[in-house]
Amino acid sequence: MAKATMVSIPYLFLLAALVLNCQCHEKKVHVVYMGEHPKGEHYNYSSMHHSMLKDVLGSRSAAKESLVYSYGKSFNGFVAKLSDEEAARVEEMEGVVSVIPNTELKLHTTRSWDFTGLPTPSFGGAKGGDVIIGMLDSGIWPEAKSFDDEGFGPPPAKWKGTCQSADNFTCNNKVIGARFYNSRGEYDSSDFKSPRDSEGHGSHTASTAGGNVVKGASYYGLAAGEVRGGLPSARIAVYKVCWYGGRCNLADILAAFDDAIADGVDIISVSLGSEEPREYFKDPIAIGSFHAMRKGILTSNSAGNAGPFLRTVSNFSPWSLTVAASTIDRKFVSQVVLGNGQIFTGTAINNFVLNGTSYPLIWGGDAANVSAGAKPDFARFCLPGNLNSLKAEGKIVLCDGFWDGSGVLLANGIGVVMADIMDDYASSFPLPATLISIEDGIKALDYIRTTENPVATILVGETWKDVMAPLVVSFSSRGSNPITPDILKVNLCTAFRQQKDPRSVQYNIISGTSMSCPHATGAAAFLKAAHPTWSPAAIKSALMTTAYVMDPRKHEDKEFAYGSGHINPVKAVDPGLIFDADETDYVDFLCKQGYTTSTLRIVTGDSSVCNNTMPGKAWGLNYPSFALALEDGEQINATFTRTVTNVGSNAATYYSSMYMPGPLKVEVEPSILPFDAIGQKKTFTVKVSGPEITQQPILSGFIHWTSDDHHAVRTPLVVYTVFSSTLSPYSYSVPNKRSHFKGSSMYHKNGILAHH
Ligand SMILES: *[C@@H]1O[C@H](CO)[C@@H](O)[C@H](O)[C@H]1NC(C)=O
Ligand SMILES: *[C@@H]1O[C@H](CO)[C@@H](O)[C@H](O)[C@H]1NC(C)=O
Ligand SMILES: *[C@@H]1O[C@H](CO)[C@@H](O)[C@H](O)[C@H]1NC(C)=O
Ligand SMILES: *[C@@H]1O[C@H](CO)[C@@H](O)[C@H](O)[C@H]1NC(C)=O
Ligand SMILES: *[C@@H]1O[C@H](CO)[C@@H](O)[C@H](O)[C@H]1NC(C)=O
Ligand SMILES: *[C@@H]1O[C@H](CO)[C@@H](O)[C@H](O)[C@H]1NC(C)=O
Repeated sequence: MAKATMVSIPYLFLLAALVLNCQCHEKKVHVVYMGEHPKGEHYNYSSMHHSMLKDVLGSRSAAKESLVYSYGKSFNGFVAKLSDEEAARVEEMEGVVSVIPNTELKLHTTRSWDFTGLPTPSFGGAKGGDVIIGMLDSGIWPEAKSFDDEGFGPPPAKWKGTCQSADNFTCNNKVIGARFYNSRGEYDSSDFKSPRDSEGHGSHTASTAGGNVVKGASYYGLAAGEVRGGLPSARIAVYKVCWYGGRCNLADILAAFDDAIADGVDIISVSLGSEEPREYFKDPIAIGSFHAMRKGILTSNSAGNAGPFLRTVSNFSPWSLTVAASTIDRKFVSQVVLGNGQIFTGTAINNFVLNGTSYPLIWGGDAANVSAGAKPDFARFCLPGNLNSLKAEGKIVLCDGFWDGSGVLLANGIGVVMADIMDDYASSFPLPATLISIEDGIKALDYIRTTENPVATILVGETWKDVMAPLVVSFSSRGSNPITPDILKVNLCTAFRQQKDPRSVQYNIISGTSMSCPHATGAAAFLKAAHPTWSPAAIKSALMTTAYVMDPRKHEDKEFAYGSGHINPVKAVDPGLIFDADETDYVDFLCKQGYTTSTLRIVTGDSSVCNNTMPGKAWGLNYPSFALALEDGEQINATFTRTVTNVGSNAATYYSSMYMPGPLKVEVEPSILPFDAIGQKKTFTVKVSGPEITQQPILSGFIHWTSDDHHAVRTPLVVYTVFSSTLSPYSYSVPNKRSHFKGSSMYHKNGILAHH
């Protein structure tokens, strides 16, 4: 964004020269996605793809050179080297849904080996020897104790996969299959050209989801303790798509889905994603998980690590399970109270006592030491030497960006309030200090700008110990759904590390939502073992409606951060009611998203029709939550329809109750649902009304169904305004970790700080 405005005349010439010399004819790897197989015919896919390429490229030899890979086991498509112009021509060909450049996706993690060995939860003794978990990740270390096959019989009969043994890599009766994919064809010196894991990530996610119980083990030389997967009796099938540095290619991910679905896995776990939101049929994980869903396979994927910004969630298709990361750490907070009564909760270890006394509040940008050469747009970072002590003395200074507080201290300030990306770990400072969110920083600056004598105080720090409800960590990506605002994504959160041992508090490290995903995968595998016939939507519904409730006071982003709540697999085994959905529901959903009948026929390979040709809201999708996205100033008025299936006891009556915040008026009709048989379905509507709302980040309530046989089914309901990205301080290209003051903030015309 910033670049475009800064282009000067000589650069324009350079740019023109580049355009004339353009790389348009350079061939790049593209994925051509062609939907479901044509039914009932036995195709030679590679020959079909070959002939399509021949039509575009003009000759057999050119086609042969171009074709990299043919998909065809679980869906139709191929990978080919094409110029931009050729790619555009292929996209227009009959039967082609989308052409996607072979970009790189990233493992959803920032560190890997650090957290190995921390105990992971297990959900009891269900027999799961027949459940196969497909792991799309960086491979596996099959000799690890977690993957020992002692006590495991031969693979279940449904298994049709293979073990691509290379070098010394072998499978066993625990790790029953393994393949590797590298469409780039390049290897780093530390890569193994086999399914062996050089990163550590894949071994850890696999052991978290379905690893054996390993007692007293010093796992990979780190912390000792009991290590076990969510379903220790599960079998593991490995699809290595990520290589050195956590880099994973789109073409390889789709190839892995193509194989995994055909191999007969029950659950697919993917802890990686695109860095930007993609339309459903340009997103390899949405495509792969759609075809998996059609075969009854649930895909569990991580929400990504682009938090704490809203709408950063990747992997948001409604047919998959999206998991955020939470922490059960102690949290150090220190609050700022403004003269107008606004209170912002920040993180800091603050032992300074201001006794509630208010001090004048200024913004660092207004206190530049001009004689020392400091400009306001630099003084706002409050670095040592940049502040004018005559202006800062005895005051609390609001600064842009995280720093150590020394600049304010040297200018004789009383305290410092820093606005930056929030961290979950707190720092201590040499003066009263706290770190607040950028959003709160904007509010505080607004207060300074609009008030005659702005004042504030910083309260002494508190430790939020023993929090019953866990917290979603800041790096965990947030909803809402960037593509379909009416579908609430994130679905759930799970711990990204467990702490049985108090000493493990020291492991206060950032790992990533990728560690949450395998916890959910393990839970889903556990449910699959208990209910082999449940659909992906049923498993997802059970996990969502039974989740532990998170504390909304501790999460400004509420459901956007934690979804339905914290996963509770033991309760999910017996949810009472489920919100089921099958392919026709998702096709209807896609119709309302504006996909055409012809596209959907290719994707599904059948004669699907969009009965609703008008694009519309996604209110009808049978989803276990309710989200109403409104334009600014729009009136609250919507009706959702849902159908629940009784999976509890034969006879049970469910009564609805709800909690709704202030302006929301909600009617559930009917409010009582009697069931007299397992499998019986009942439909109800939820009518939401209220005044016009503006600038509403999220109104959050829930509907609860409780039965006379003690089941409880909770579904969140949120209403929010879709904020335009030009007004928003947030965007998708968020730095992965705090970048201190260096360019992490951008100076706006009106002095409002904003990230880019
Ligand atoms: C499919 O077609 C390709 C290229 O035309 C050919 O090399 C291959 O042998 C064929 N495969 C089968 C199973 O017929
Ligand atoms: C297999 O080969 C890798 C790479 O050379 C090596 O690090 C590993 O120890 C070997 N494993 C076994 C079981 O031989
Ligand atoms: C706060 O109160 C304590 C006890 O009354 C006093 O010792 C201390 O100096 C006060 N601190 C400030 C910053 O006013
Ligand atoms: C401004 O900076 C100069 C050079 O560091 C320093 O000597 C001076 O005291 C500062 N002025 C104020 C008012 O802080
Ligand atoms: C559209 O209508 C037809 C005929 O009524 C029905 O069979 C089909 O399932 C409907 N499709 C969807 C996506 O609802
Ligand atoms: C709410 O929406 C319904 C259906 O579109 C419409 O009939 C009704 O008049 C609306 N109510 C208000 C108060 O706008």
